Amino acid sequence: MIGPRILAIESSCDETGVAVVVGGRRIEASQVASQVALHAETGGIVPEVAARQQLRWIVPTLDAALAEADAAWDGLDAIAVTYGPGLIGSLLVGVNVAKALAATHDLPLIGVNHIEGHIYANWLTDGDRDAPMPAEPPFPLLCLVVSGGHTQLVLMEAHGRYQLLGQTIDDAAGEAFDKVGRLLGLPYPGGPAISAAAEGASPATRFPRARTDGRYDFSFSGLKTAVLREVAGYRERGEPIPIDGLAAAFEDAVVDALAGKTALAAEAQPVAAVALGGGVAANTALRAELRRRLDDLGLPLLVPPPAWCTDNGAMIGAAAGFRFLAGDRAGPSLEAIPNLALPWLDR
Ligand code: KG4
Ligand code: ZN
Repeated sequence: MIGPRILAIESSCDETGVAVVVGGRRIEASQVASQVALHAETGGIVPEVAARQQLRWIVPTLDAALAEADAAWDGLDAIAVTYGPGLIGSLLVGVNVAKALAATHDLPLIGVNHIEGHIYANWLTDGDRDAPMPAEPPFPLLCLVVSGGHTQLVLMEAHGRYQLLGQTIDDAAGEAFDKVGRLLGLPYPGGPAISAAAEGASPATRFPRARTDGRYDFSFSGLKTAVLREVAGYRERGEPIPIDGLAAAFEDAVVDALAGKTALAAEAQPVAAVALGGGVAANTALRAELRRRLDDLGLPLLVPPPAWCTDNGAMIGAAAGFRFLAGDRAGPSLEAIPNLALPWLDR
């Protein structure tokens, strides 16, 4: 396949990802070192611990990815790295390593926005070199990016052209899953644990749906408080807490909000397809509900496999492939920006 071969690094949070991606689409190698087991001990991410683990894992992960791709430095066209948004200590590890590699091997450097990476997971394929490429996602593409740190509804008009339709006004969807998981005494991360507990359980209650001023905005902190109150009620009455039923009721409320507002936007905006991205996109209830609502509108839903939904280097390599073709280059002065936003178009 033609197109730039890019070595991509992702270190914005608690996953160390390194990948080699060709033409923004085909994965030649993708290695991810996860810190999930470590953060399970503290019930959440401790930023300084995450940064230290990035430092520990970056070189072994890089070596593993280069070995998997059987790539030589002179066979690469660029180095790409996530430069935000994310945890500053974690971001600095990847950005520094990427800068050093670009300088040492005289390769261009491309800075990638992490959210853009989650969207571009929809362009990835791991089919073999001679297999025909699947069609690219069509534009305008409505993207729901839902992760531990972000919840945004984005209308992508073309490569690199984004309109922000709505976002969370408080907690991110994944953050809500993680906090409620802890409330219910489930292991970290809460997302997969709640999803497993909820499966096959009937909801113990119906939590109220949040109202927001923005038509496409989300709010999850009230829901978290509602779960807290419910749990406290069971405790006061000395009754056993129906963990699975509360997990199901919570998941219903989150899925209803995410799928509902996405379908609302899909109906009101000029949209050719809807794409999911971010760790919460791995949630099967969300996928199923969104598929059902979009079927009614006759719109296709694109969902990357779960391994490309959670943080990884391949999605950064995909976004970087298209940035490379657009002539985008970062200089050696590239900085890590913890609150980096996408360059939004006016609405
Ligand atoms: O994208 P990601 O790996 O990291 C961030 O950029 O934040 O997303 C991690 C988040 C966590 O909050 C985790 O609980 C959530 O994704 N998550 C899920 C599921 N798998 C991961 N949430 C709901 N259902 C899942 N199956
Ligand atoms: Zn992420």
